[in-house]
Amino acid sequence: KFENLANTPPMGWNSWNKFECKINEQIIREVADAMASNGMKAAGYEYIVVDDCWQIGRDSAGNILADPERFPSGMKSLGDYIHSKGLKFGIYSDAGTATCQGRPGSRGYEFQDARTYAKWGADFLKYDWCNHGKQSAEASYTLMRDAIYKAGRPMVLSICEWGTNKPWEWAKNIGHLWRTTEDIINCFDCKNNWGGLGVLQIIDLHTDISDFSGPGHWNDPDMLEVGNGVLTQNEERLHFSMWAMFSAPLIAGNDIRTMSDETLKMLTNKEVIAVDQDKLGISAIRWMKYGDLEIWFKPLAEGDYAFCFINRGDKEIQLNQDLKATIRKFKIDGSYQVRDLWKHKNIGSTQENIKGKIAAHDALMFRLIKKQS
Ligand code: GLA
Repeated sequence: KFENLANTPPMGWNSWNKFECKINEQIIREVADAMASNGMKAAGYEYIVVDDCWQIGRDSAGNILADPERFPSGMKSLGDYIHSKGLKFGIYSDAGTATCQGRPGSRGYEFQDARTYAKWGADFLKYDWCNHGKQSAEASYTLMRDAIYKAGRPMVLSICEWGTNKPWEWAKNIGHLWRTTEDIINCFDCKNNWGGLGVLQIIDLHTDISDFSGPGHWNDPDMLEVGNGVLTQNEERLHFSMWAMFSAPLIAGNDIRTMSDETLKMLTNKEVIAVDQDKLGISAIRWMKYGDLEIWFKPLAEGDYAFCFINRGDKEIQLNQDLKATIRKFKIDGSYQVRDLWKHKNIGSTQENIKGKIAAHDALMFRLIKKQS
């Protein structure tokens, strides 16, 4: 695969969660305009990924064709537009004969499609797993990796086989990120009958796979539902905080052209993003669970640490947490300043207990900053 891509988790936007198949070039261009000017680009968001339903068929030579009604200017022109905003262009296909929405897949056309995407200026390929028949996942994703490599344009390869074949065990040298679960659904605590998972259900699937994630090869717990109108603000804070704790790709999935100021503020919280983008790229572990309270822990570069306290339950939780004990447990030396990453305030030091409350379905996130001695 192309090395030196995604050394930190990719950040960007993808059309699926909000628009599903109802996409067109106008929306994508306006999203690029918004990202370039609303503070998201400055906060690190970069990729604009057009998900399923841009394709309509193939020409007689087998070249993949964009839907001329929805993308009348063509994909090359869309890529140029995105690049003109200083952003990167992502595209979507599927390793099987058809995508999840029944559009043409890349099976049998891998090298030709990769050349086409390269010609269009794609920087990112999300590669899905519907209609794959009896293919091996590892072989299918390796084939597309090789096709991209042959096409000669560096692209991030986003493996989307939903964790079905444990990609964390084999995909490190194939893709730059891999979905770990079925699709996120827009809810806090739920499942649906086709395998979709809410925020808590996705978090629970990440208690044992943190070791597999790291620079250039990330666990991907799926795109964000922040700003999509169902989660409460507390639930969104928990969702965004935990994705940062996981070093997850931060791919906004809302309509960033029309979002509220609160949503923009959450998506561009630079202190939380800094935890996500920390250069060590360590994914958090859950080190304590007391009923509905969980405490997640993540080592950061330069001797700092992040802690995230989440309240899964419906009742407020009173906190009186001795971080000294934790620090001793992890054999960390010294004294730290404790900074609240949502309030943007230093709240004390590790010599004192962390006191306060966590509202139902909410999260607190702290950075322990090593005191200069
Ligand atoms: C699958 C993927 C989703 C999305 C849809 C598009 O379900 O997991 O993220 O790309 O396909 O059809």
